[in-house]
Amino acid sequence: MSNSDKYPVLMRLMHWIVGLLILGIIGAGWYMVGLDDSVSYKYDIYHWHKSFGVLIIFLLFARLVIRWASKVPKLPDSIPAYQRKLGTLVHWLLYLFMFLVPVSGYMMSDAGGRDVPLFNLVMPSFLEKNPELAGRLHDMHVIIPYVLLGIVVLHTLGAIKHRFFDKPEHDVLRRML
Ligand code: HEM
Ligand code: HEM
Repeated sequence: MSNSDKYPVLMRLMHWIVGLLILGIIGAGWYMVGLDDSVSYKYDIYHWHKSFGVLIIFLLFARLVIRWASKVPKLPDSIPAYQRKLGTLVHWLLYLFMFLVPVSGYMMSDAGGRDVPLFNLVMPSFLEKNPELAGRLHDMHVIIPYVLLGIVVLHTLGAIKHRFFDKPEHDVLRRML
């Protein structure tokens, strides 16, 4: 595999930084909702969860611009077409959920009448206070991060399959490292 088959370095950096951030945000979300209200730092975690979550929205746009401006390496033709299609489908599902998950969190807080933080900044409000809408967005936001996690697991299993249980030239992980 030649170097030109690798993803451009900016895309590789984005991939691993955003990936770690998302896993951290999911872990923090899962942890913070289980904390008792008496725990002094509970809402500090909410603050960081929301701030990094909003950051993901900006990083997603930056990432898509970088992708659009970059040369994305073609998958080896020898990988069966259905596997190439499946991989591409999973990638676009990942992008879709990287949008839906933080936006549902943002809109949930906004419709709940709460300020949406970006570290020490306050993000603009787009919605009138609407507890019913906030409730529905809450129902959504407590499920879809775990759907995203499930897609990440499939995605990771795909990378492992091609690295360890496939021909060496099908090792797509090398393109992302
Ligand atoms: C990539 C971004 C994000 C991910 C992966 C994510 C993930 C999660 C997860 C896994 C939970 C726990 C759900 C549960 O088990 O009940 C959660 C809860 C929560 N998230 Fe997010 N989130 C993200 C972005 C945001 C944003 C941008 C906001 C608001 C600005 C937000 C606000 C909240 C709130 C308030 C809760 C707690 C809900 C409750 O107390 O029941 N999240 N999030
Ligand atoms: C939250 C975690 C992750 C997210 C959101 C994510 C998302 C993505 C996305 C959207 C792409 C498509 C890049 C493009 O636009 O072409 C991609 C590619 C890739 N990811 Fe991930 N990823 C995550 C974690 C991982 C992990 C843990 C591994 C491996 C152990 C991995 C391995 C790869 C590889 C090898 C590619 C390139 C596939 C190819 O050559 O076409 N990713 N990832």
